Amino acid sequence: MKKKVFSIGNLKTEVVFTDSDSCLDFRGDSSIYIFDTNTRPLFTLPPEANIIVLPAGEIHKNWQSIDTVCSSALDAGLSRDSIMIGIGGGVVCDVTGLSASLFMRGTGLVFVPTTLLAMTDAALGGKTGFDYRGYKNILGTFYPAKEIRICPSVLATLPDKEFKSGLAEVIKHALLRDRELLSLLINEKEKIIRRDPIILADVIEKSLGVKGWYVEHDFLEKGIRTHLNFGHTFGHALESVMGFERITHGEAVMWGIKTALKTGIVLGETDKSWEEEVNEIIRLYGYKTDYQNTVNPEEIISAIAFDKKKKKDHVRFVLQHTYADTFTMPLSHDVLKHVLAPVT
Ligand SMILES: NC(=O)c1ccc[n+]([C@@H]2O[C@H](COP(=O)([O-])OP(=O)(O)OC[C@H]3O[C@@H](n4cnc5c(N)ncnc54)[C@H](O)[C@@H]3O)[C@@H](O)[C@H]2O)c1
Repeated sequence: MKKKVFSIGNLKTEVVFTDSDSCLDFRGDSSIYIFDTNTRPLFTLPPEANIIVLPAGEIHKNWQSIDTVCSSALDAGLSRDSIMIGIGGGVVCDVTGLSASLFMRGTGLVFVPTTLLAMTDAALGGKTGFDYRGYKNILGTFYPAKEIRICPSVLATLPDKEFKSGLAEVIKHALLRDRELLSLLINEKEKIIRRDPIILADVIEKSLGVKGWYVEHDFLEKGIRTHLNFGHTFGHALESVMGFERITHGEAVMWGIKTALKTGIVLGETDKSWEEEVNEIIRLYGYKTDYQNTVNPEEIISAIAFDKKKKKDHVRFVLQHTYADTFTMPLSHDVLKHVLAPVT
């Protein structure tokens, strides 16, 4: 069983790679298991286990779900020494994490992530939260899990669309700082798409290593951790213009990365050969990247400005000179208009 420990703030998160038989084995601990309606059928548990099943989906990343988890924990007699175990994608992880941070001012927290995105991104790093009054992740805490159990074979049932969405974050991690992961993505595409658990374990471990590096260096996101937003400022704007049902987060992030690199070229900051190399990987995995031909650039710019206003922040876009050479800068309206213009 492979293990890796990340130091997050003054706490430690242990990541353990395990098989599906032992990933829910918490005998001896007083605990509550939190699933959603899609992840509950994937695991068996003894009849005496305390189980909560939340409705699946982003719209249920809300106050009601936090209330359900906390009141069930109270009914089950959990204490500060108990553990809340979140078994699901990023939604279940974020809801469980926030509930654990609030319950008795902090009870034990373990994640068993079941989507590629949760395994490589959402479960590690301590950000918890939920969506409130239309603002995504506006209420939340920093509260790292003490343990993350990863079982790559659980990805077998994940819908293709979700798998490909999570893979976008893996590609982003590789571009930020892992050449070996980049080579794996290029050379082992067939096995990755087939979800070979051995290759996936390697891919997940490397991808987590990148996320963990940023989190260990900047837990509270005061500086370098913002590089993890590579492709996200453009991507979020596209998601909000197109509507969350018409595009996955991963598709939007891939388009965002392509757009960020194009911006760097326009500004004379990005290496042309690096842009070509990245575009080749984006093509290899079949991400659609011509969204600027179907959306109005001004709508994207307004969505970016709206995001900026909401956060009372100035937007610094994450760009790259080349592999692992990442920087941030603000962009003028004229530059945005230029890079978002339809391609003929
Ligand atoms: N805390 C963080 O640092 C962080 C980082 C990135 C994303 N997030 C959050 O994560 C959320 C997105 O996470 P996600 O993409 O995992 O979405 P999700 O949790 O909604 O899961 C996607 C869908 O897959 C289903 N599912 C999960 N595992 C499955 C499996 N093994 N087989 C079949 N179906 C399965 C879920 O029920 C859901 O319908 C967003 O709310 C985002 O804000 C948090």
